[in-house]
Amino acid sequence: MKNNSLKITDNRTGTSYTLPIHNNTINALSLRDIKVNEDDFGLMAYDPGYTNTASCNSTITYVDGEKGVLMYRGYPIEQLAENSTFLEVSYLLINDSLPSKEQSEHWENKVMHHTYIHENLAKLMQTFRYDAHPMGMLIGTIAAMSTLHPDAKEIHNPTSRQKQIWRILGKLPTIAAFAYRRRIGRPYNYPDSSLGYTENLLYMMDYMNQGNYQVDPILAKALDTLLILHADHEQNCSTSVMRNIGSSHADPYSAMAGAAAALYGPLHGGANEAVLRMLTEIANTDNIPHYIDQVKDGKFRLMGFGHRVYKNYDPRARIIKNVADQVLKVTGSTPLLEIALELENIALKDDYFVSRNLYPNVDFYSGIIYQAMGFPVDMFPVLFALGRAPGWLAQWLELIDDQEQKIARPRQIYTGHMNRDYVPINKRK
Ligand code: CMC
Repeated sequence: MKNNSLKITDNRTGTSYTLPIHNNTINALSLRDIKVNEDDFGLMAYDPGYTNTASCNSTITYVDGEKGVLMYRGYPIEQLAENSTFLEVSYLLINDSLPSKEQSEHWENKVMHHTYIHENLAKLMQTFRYDAHPMGMLIGTIAAMSTLHPDAKEIHNPTSRQKQIWRILGKLPTIAAFAYRRRIGRPYNYPDSSLGYTENLLYMMDYMNQGNYQVDPILAKALDTLLILHADHEQNCSTSVMRNIGSSHADPYSAMAGAAAALYGPLHGGANEAVLRMLTEIANTDNIPHYIDQVKDGKFRLMGFGHRVYKNYDPRARIIKNVADQVLKVTGSTPLLEIALELENIALKDDYFVSRNLYPNVDFYSGIIYQAMGFPVDMFPVLFALGRAPGWLAQWLELIDDQEQKIARPRQIYTGHMNRDYVPINKRK
């Protein structure tokens, strides 16, 4: 205790306090004991954006942002990306261990068994306008799923929770594919559960009654790897939303609709879309220096660069760069890759980016792959959401079983008016 503690002296009162340190962390509530007098509320910590606040204990994902390390349940992301599959990684995230052969077959059967969506949901998706952003469709449709599966409210029933997980993992690709087909005016293409998870997704999006249709195995593997790389990233914005909504004991569909909404923003999962738009706007490597100057003048940010946690090269970006090479061998190269490589090259030599530890993140190259594979730009965040789904679910399960968790309810520092007298409208200036 002597060494594992923090001694604080409150200079307002001269009183000293000893706060225990566990896992390099003090319990924020112990600050409350630090008071000027008995009526004082006690000290709070101010932390907008939760930049230095741990909201939970977790055994799911380890990130060392300084060294550029990422592990799911202790397995390095590089090994999983090379050897595993997205469905196996989903099992790992949710169950804490890699599945045996039997467990793997059972898991895959269960997920693929749940790929069909309720016809009401398919009809509901038809009611979105022809130009609706597919991410909006995804968010709305996930929320609507809670109306079709009211048993999902039984969040303390492990059997029910397991069923919702299979349903969500199974149905999300179908919703994504239907959103895509709706967007481009093609009829829905129903799932083929004899295919693998990612093959089925590509099939539902692409298939147009061709007699000799086959999903390209290199593209399916590339997309599967991208899903693995996005599968979890500890307490990021959307995962925190999943946990926050989950903390009120809402059903997982409602929580996941919120998480997907958080992912939609351009600072989070919408960044891959923003990167593509940025590279298209730059249009030519000659325009990069001027673009970088504008970023440095604070006019806008370099999308796909920087990360709250990584102050080093994002390990996912390194893997994605290799995947891009494989995909472009199949699809043919794109001028955007040349612009991206040159942009990275210039930025990583520029003091503005170097001094702020701004490196390419997971979104910098993923958009190029998605575009080369033929996905429209507005489908990019949807693909991110599909990848992140097992992570959201694993984090939600961990929250539900964590006895220390409570309903999320941050404090505030009130800086507004006090005790004003109401003025009737005809007497206001
Ligand atoms: N371009 C230019 N300057 C940047 C960038 C960028 N992409 N990112 C950060 N900075 C600067 C920022 O202006 C600030 O400079 P100064 O100290 O002079 O004010 C400094 O770097 C620190 O930035 P910050 O906003 O305090 O950093 P943050 O941790 O709050 O933000 C971020 C992290 C990811 C929101 C931010 O880096 C960003 O906006 N990046 C672009 C969007 C993006 O690529 N998002 C995807 C993130 S990875 C996938 C995911 O998790 O969703």
